Amino acid sequence: MKIFKTRDYYDMSRKAANIISAQIILKPDCVLGLATGSSPLGTYKQLVEWYKKEDLDFSKVSTVNLDEYRGLSPQNEQSYYYFMHKNLFSQVNIRENATFVPDGMNNDIEKACKDHEDIINRLGGIDLQLLGLGENGHIGFNEPADEFIKDTHCVQLSRSTIEANSRFFEDIKDVPTQAITMGIRTIMRADKILIIVNGSKKAKIVKEAFWGPVTPKVPASILQIHKDVTLVADEAALSQAPI
Ligand code: F6R
Repeated sequence: MKIFKTRDYYDMSRKAANIISAQIILKPDCVLGLATGSSPLGTYKQLVEWYKKEDLDFSKVSTVNLDEYRGLSPQNEQSYYYFMHKNLFSQVNIRENATFVPDGMNNDIEKACKDHEDIINRLGGIDLQLLGLGENGHIGFNEPADEFIKDTHCVQLSRSTIEANSRFFEDIKDVPTQAITMGIRTIMRADKILIIVNGSKKAKIVKEAFWGPVTPKVPASILQIHKDVTLVADEAALSQAPI
């Protein structure tokens, strides 16, 4: 695992954007796996700036998102579809039909999960997967559990995730209780993984995930056995790490 310790969130975001930008330059028709939440916002902002300066071209890039809430329509401002369009897709020259967010509105949830897996396979797999880290160790919405769930599936969100994500909603009661998420195998199949983490709130889980035992109780710990993982984290998030 490569580790980059950055001063702060801004520095983390620039470093992550640099790595994604290198991927796009080296393979213009690459497939990016993308995340939502507060961690990647600065990264997307930086990528948009570079695109506007004509330093980056998304015209051949395809993207697949990690997850989506169940029951939120694309027009709902809290949906991950909305988030991605607002913060990245509408601001760069990516083709609309080359961006894929799981379909949280499909009543046939099994089909929605299978469709997402099929899309990833049809695209030839993910070249670079961007991840954030949940305070409980989740990646995507793979919550702490007794076993790793392999493929894209529907998940019951844990209390701690609902509480952590309630900051984006008016009322905690509005936070959906279920989501579709890529599974652990889906994520681990990506050629390269880039995980970004900031803030002292995540210091404990960073230490457990990357320096503790590999266990489904801390889903991100599985990344320790991936062949090409880059962790970009700020000083606060690495403050308990033995480095
Ligand atoms: C989002 C996702 C989640 C977040 C994680 C951290 O698509 O899959 O795993 O990356 O919950 O969220 P933030 O960045 O908001 O702290």
